[in-house]
Amino acid sequence: MDACVVSVNAALSAFRAHFRRWPTLVVRAPGRVNLIGEHTDYNDGFVLPVTINRAIWLAVRRHTAPKVTVRAHDLDQEITVDITAFERRAAGWAAYVQGVLWAMGKAGIPLCGWDGLLTGDVPRGAGLASSAALEMAVARAVAALAGHNWDPLEMAQTAWRAENEWVGVSCGVMDQVAVACGRAGHAILLDCRSLRVEHVPWPAGAAIVVLDTGTRRELVESAYNERRAQCEAAAISFGVRALRDVTPEMFAERAHTLDDVVRRRARHVITENARVLAAAEALRAGNLVRVGELMVASHASLQDDFQVSSPALDAMVTCALEAPGCYGARLTGAGFGGCVVALVAEEKTATFTEHVLRCYRAHTSLVPRAYTCRAVNGASVAWLI
Ligand code: GLA
Repeated sequence: MDACVVSVNAALSAFRAHFRRWPTLVVRAPGRVNLIGEHTDYNDGFVLPVTINRAIWLAVRRHTAPKVTVRAHDLDQEITVDITAFERRAAGWAAYVQGVLWAMGKAGIPLCGWDGLLTGDVPRGAGLASSAALEMAVARAVAALAGHNWDPLEMAQTAWRAENEWVGVSCGVMDQVAVACGRAGHAILLDCRSLRVEHVPWPAGAAIVVLDTGTRRELVESAYNERRAQCEAAAISFGVRALRDVTPEMFAERAHTLDDVVRRRARHVITENARVLAAAEALRAGNLVRVGELMVASHASLQDDFQVSSPALDAMVTCALEAPGCYGARLTGAGFGGCVVALVAEEKTATFTEHVLRCYRAHTSLVPRAYTCRAVNGASVAWLI
């Protein structure tokens, strides 16, 4: 049976078992892997993510009380949000649900009461945008219940506001836009300033393998905020709105005036933006070798200049690059732990994966995982009665 049918059925029956009634709607929001363009989104730059065939599923049934109850089936936890008064901020995953309800209400979308059940297979905290998938699943359900027209970009921005203003995580806009705007068989080239999206056809013969290092780094948030502040300081030194506006020529001319750390951060962002555009061009041309080279250069820049890699991520990249069929590999997401993304010749996927997992186990004491992914559509209504 199709994986989608299995997931819809799982969400339907778990809802029925818990709430003792059938849901009337099931929505789905995928995770994403970023092929290239790391730490560029909050610098108004470019990113090239792909929505993957791992998703959060939310089964929903409307009721008349002014509250929303959501059960996280896989965590065995539940929250209830009073939709007439948003006061106390919940912790953990519940804050994201609450935040999206708050932001949708603020955006003028009428809220109603409902019960919901969440399930899914996006690994949490692994750099695959599980939070954005959760946000967009809630947004998709609220919009459907309200009969509100689904504009993916507008909804992505509403969810982004929820994460920044309600949850208090100062992330860039990449994840929400990717989860909302993904298209099957395409990568998403996003200009994070204009929010212009271009769907770049995924070339034949190329597989995306996501390699989970099995590490999750605490304190990602403080390191992330520190990087953001350093990028902002660099933009100020160049007299521009964001690092997006610094050309390689401007950088070469003024780099010596910056302090060492700020100079490295700026160099990463400026060169990474150029790599994203070059990678999109190479994808369009089906030039996988070139995309792979750009991914390798991106990892080196994240390692040396942006300093967000880790021994586990580096070990995984090294193992991937020496495995059969690999065009390129790099850390994906914020860094410090989580996953590596590899571009692999499709017919070699099985031997590639086997080699990498064996190599990584031999060099670390960690338990890795590999997910072979394909590009799927963004957040959608999966089932409706
Ligand atoms: C996290 C953030 C994104 C982006 C990446 C790094 O995933 O949520 O907005 O900044 O880190 O590229």
